[in-house]
Amino acid sequence: MNLKLKSCEVRSWRSGDLESLVTYANNRNVWINLRDRFPHPYTARDGHAFLKHTREQQPETAFAIVANGDAVGGIGFQLQGDVERVSAEIGYWLGEPFWGRGIATDALRALTEFAIVTHGLTRVYAVPFASNLASCRVLEKAGYVLEGRLRRSAVKDGSIIDQLQYAFNP
Ligand SMILES: CC(C)(COP(=O)(O)OP(=O)(O)OC[C@H]1O[C@@H](n2cnc3c(N)ncnc32)[C@H](O)[C@@H]1OP(=O)(O)O)[C@@H](O)C(=O)NCCC(=O)NCCS
Repeated sequence: MNLKLKSCEVRSWRSGDLESLVTYANNRNVWINLRDRFPHPYTARDGHAFLKHTREQQPETAFAIVANGDAVGGIGFQLQGDVERVSAEIGYWLGEPFWGRGIATDALRALTEFAIVTHGLTRVYAVPFASNLASCRVLEKAGYVLEGRLRRSAVKDGSIIDQLQYAFNP
């Protein structure tokens, strides 16, 4: 898969992305806004295991965000099951040197559309931490609607936090 966008490309991960992946993923300022399944510190071993997983994924749901020719971030969705099989949760991260250039917004718009069209979805949703104002802004710019506040629903770095529920319906 390869989507060429204004500020970046969203494409399948490649084994050659390992060095760049580890460089940008190994950052506390990225990790602090993500689920704990995203490792910190982020080692070459973590990167290798992740890239192996993406190569074996069927269907493919995790993709690289490419800027200046390098994989500098990731974006992916999790297809839900049972009666929620028309829904998917989307998530994304970008290397800190690339923040503030509209890259995540471009990538989110494009992958939302890709997920809906490829999998016949009626809903794509995201659950950012309430403190993550940049991510909330990205979701709003991409047409996601705030549905509610999940009070004290998560623990991150030892603190109990609120999360926000955003959704896109085509
Ligand atoms: C969230 C993240 C993906 C944003 O990526 P990005 O490419 O910088 O996003 P964009 O440039 O497309 O848009 C960012 C918007 O947030 C705004 N913003 C940034 N910091 C902000 C803050 N502290 N308060 C309010 N708005 C803020 C920017 O001004 C911009 O909005 P604008 O275009 O109206 O000016 C990136 O910061 C990141 O990877 N963070 C760590 C991981 C993460 O949070 N992932 C999302 C988990 S839900």
